[in-house]
Order: sequence, then structure tokens, then C-alpha cells
Amino acid sequence: MIDTTLPLTDLHRHLDGNIRAQTILDLGRQFNLPLPADSLEALRPHVQVVETAPDLVSFLQKLDWGVKVLADLDACRRVAWENIEDAARNGLHYVELRFSPGYMAMTHNLPVAGVVEAVIEGVRQGCRDFGVEARLIGIMSRTFGEAACLAELEALLAHRDSITALDLAGDELGFPGSLFLNHFNRARDAGWHITVHAGEAAGPESIWQAIRELGAERIGHGVKAIEDPALMDFLAEHGIGIESCLTSNIQTSTIASLDKHPLITFLEKGVLATINTDDPAVQGIDIIHEYTVAAPQAGLSAAQIRTAQENGLKIAFLSDAEKQALI
Ligand code: ADE
Ligand code: ZN
Repeated sequence: MIDTTLPLTDLHRHLDGNIRAQTILDLGRQFNLPLPADSLEALRPHVQVVETAPDLVSFLQKLDWGVKVLADLDACRRVAWENIEDAARNGLHYVELRFSPGYMAMTHNLPVAGVVEAVIEGVRQGCRDFGVEARLIGIMSRTFGEAACLAELEALLAHRDSITALDLAGDELGFPGSLFLNHFNRARDAGWHITVHAGEAAGPESIWQAIRELGAERIGHGVKAIEDPALMDFLAEHGIGIESCLTSNIQTSTIASLDKHPLITFLEKGVLATINTDDPAVQGIDIIHEYTVAAPQAGLSAAQIRTAQENGLKIAFLSDAEKQALI
């Protein structure tokens, strides 16, 4: 139920949560790194969520093997390029890829700004090779604390013109947005857009905080907004976009089942909510699955799915002229 007359977008996709199992095997062999298994089938349960994780932090551990094999900058370039190849294979016209350069650099002590540069190069080359339009969102991984996030911010700022927005991801419960006010002040000064993972593991207060104190124009997940009617009204009135990731919310145990997902209510209330993937390789899904299987299971009608698809272009971090060029 994808409308092929409209551009297909994915606004919430982690490049470092979308490293192919085959690439993990290849890079493990290339760099002679110990992996938990040496065949694709045996590796899968280590790098993919099987059914559901008990909570967000356990889910996030499944991303670790993907970044542990990034032993040099060419490996970073490769996974960035493959992300665009995946986007093209899925029929995406426009993708916003987000990545945490500090997390990608961590295991092999790579230079963080070098990782940013390698990702930019890989994505650019991929866009040329596959004809996909893409933008990059820098992530600060809150799980590693304020100082590590500052190092990520500095590395991203060194390439500020190639970065479109700043995000905060990772352990929302353990590291509230209030720790990162200065980081976001600097991001806004740089002219970047702001999106924040909020209301996924923590409650609606985390979403209010992201909007009021961090300057978020869009919210990643935002599931818990459903608990606060005033917040729902605010999101609709102010055009704050919601980046919904249906299957991800089940796999992180944020939501018990898709028929309880608030996306349908967001759309009914006029919130600019969208359908996205999150970490497709880790989740074993793609954008087509989210539109054709997950969204109907979440109770969306064909018309509501179409509205969500239209919203993707509405809330994309693009100028009006850039949006027009995609139509
Ligand atoms: N990093 C990758 N996926 C994430 C998610 N669903 N929430 C927070 N941080 C993430
Ligand atoms: Zn995410």
C-alpha cells in the first residue's frame, strides 16, 4: 500500500543500525576479528533482534557487532555506501540517514571527524551510483555521556555544511535531554535542524523537554505523547513531526502489540506522523514491510497510510524547492 505516485521517504534510519550481516562477516574476515559465529545463519541471532528485546537498552546491544567490525575508515565508507544501495533497492526516493560517529569510531579508536568524513563520502558516492536523494543527521549517543557527545558534536561541526540536523539517541531513561542543553544550543547556532529521540523509553515530559529546551522540530518515536492530550494538541498545532517506527517499537518493548500503537491516533488528530524503519538490518525489516504489513496491523486505513507517506515529504529536512524537485 505504497502510493507509487508519491515520493517514498524514510526519515528515521540509523546508518549504524543498518549494517548487513554479510558485511559484518566480510569485515570480520578482512580484519581478522573474532566474531561470535562464522556463518551468516549462525551470526544472525547475534546481530538481529529475534522477536522482541526486553527493553530499549537490550535492543541497542544488537547494534554493537556492526560497529565493532569498522576497523578503518574504508569500512565506514563501505557501510555508508551500502546504506544508499539498500535505500535504492527499497524504492526510496529520499532518505535521511543518521549516524553516531563516536559509536562508530569507538572500538578501533578511529578519528571521530574522520568517520564523519568517510560517511559523507560513502553516502555521496552512493547517491551518485544509485540516484537516491539523501541527507545526513548527526547523532550524539547519550548512553556514553555528555563529554563523549561533545566530541561527537565537534566532529560533526567540522563538517557542518554536509550535515542537515542533530539528534540525540541511545538510553533515554538513563540520560535525559536536560544534560545536553549546551550541545543543542551550538547545533542551532550552526543552523542545523533538530530532531530528538523522545517519548520512546521515557514519558511525555521527555517530549516537552525536547521541544521546549532542545528546540526539536521533529520527534523520533514520540510514542508516549498519547498519554498527554495537551501535548497531542501542541504537536498538531505547531506541526511538530513524529517519526514513527512501528516494528522497532514492538522490538524494544515500547508497545505490546501493533494494534495498541498510537500512530493511528496521531494521524486522526492531525499530527504530522510518518512511517520509517529505525534500524532495518538489526530488525530484519525494510520500509516496504512497514508500509504493507506493519501499518495495516496498526489499524491504518489505505488513506491513512497515504497521509503518512505525504507527511514524509512535508516534514523532511529539505527546502520547499528541494521538496518540489522530488515530486
Ligand atoms: N539507536 C538506534 N536505534 C535507536 C532507538 N530505537 N532508540 C534510541 N536510540 C537508538
Ligand atoms: Zn532511532
